[in-house]
Formats: sequence, structure tokens, C-alpha cells
Amino acid sequence: MSRTVYVLNGPNLNLLGKREPDIYGHETLNDVEADCRRIGAQHNIEIVFRQSNAEHDLINWIQEAREQADGIAINPAAYTHTSVAIRDALSACECPIIEVHISNIHARESFRHHSYVSSIASGVIAGFGTQGYPIALERLAVLMDQVAK
Ligand code: DQA
Repeated sequence: MSRTVYVLNGPNLNLLGKREPDIYGHETLNDVEADCRRIGAQHNIEIVFRQSNAEHDLINWIQEAREQADGIAINPAAYTHTSVAIRDALSACECPIIEVHISNIHARESFRHHSYVSSIASGVIAGFGTQGYPIALERLAVLMDQVAK
């Protein structure tokens, strides 16, 4: 059975690989997308992979995922710490949601310690570098199997 997972990325993640590589590493967002598609193919998961710097794009894509996705992996980036609107959009989704952060947000500035998303996510991955994305997909594959049973 084929399933669809939306992998959504928030502001400044288009600069991955160039932006603060000591924190976010050297892999680019294209590398992350390739990793996600490789894991997706192993689990018969179709990957919809998107990034935007605009909050309204992310909200529209979450609403699209609400209709079309069996799972969501989202790195809301800075909107994690500010956006009630993104949380509300995710709350309206019935599918499993994994929140991903490349860095360990709990080991950084205190304003990054609070997430509006974590309490409505099935799970949270932080501090695994870009490896967090394939790990999120592995977990979503398990959660989607449980929903299908
Ligand atoms: C981030 C952590 C956020 O605090 C930050 O604003 C980001 C990226 C991460 O992946 O580690 O842009 O979500």
C-alpha cells in the first residue's frame, strides 16, 4: 500500500549547508530531500518535500496535507517558537506528525526551548543533525502501519 508523507521545512532552511554549518552541518536541503526520497522508496512512501520562508505557505501546505497525507514530518524552524497559527493548522490534521530539529534546541538559547508544536506532535527529534529526517520517516512508517491496522 502506497502512502504519502509531507516533509515541510520552514524559514532559512533553504540555506542549509551554507548557514551556520557549525550548528546545522554541511548537508544541503537537496541532500536532505534525496535522503527522504531514498527512505520513502524503501517503505513505499511517496514524499512531498517543500520549504518556504513564509508562514502562510506552510499553513496552506499543512491544510493540503490534512486532505492528502498519511503523515507529516515538519521542521517549522523559527516558527516553532512563535507560531500559534502553524500549531492550529497541525492540530486540525488527524495523521501522525513528527517535529524535526536539526540542532538540539534544548541546548541552545532559552527562546528556542519552547515549541508550540511539540505537545501536539506524535514525537520530536532534535539534535540528530540532518539524520533526524530519515529517522522521522522511519518512525512515521511504523505509526502509519498502526493506523492502517
Ligand atoms: C531549527 C531550530 C530553530 O530554533 C531555528 O530557528 C531553525 C532551525 C533546527 O532545525 O535546529 O531555523 O528548527
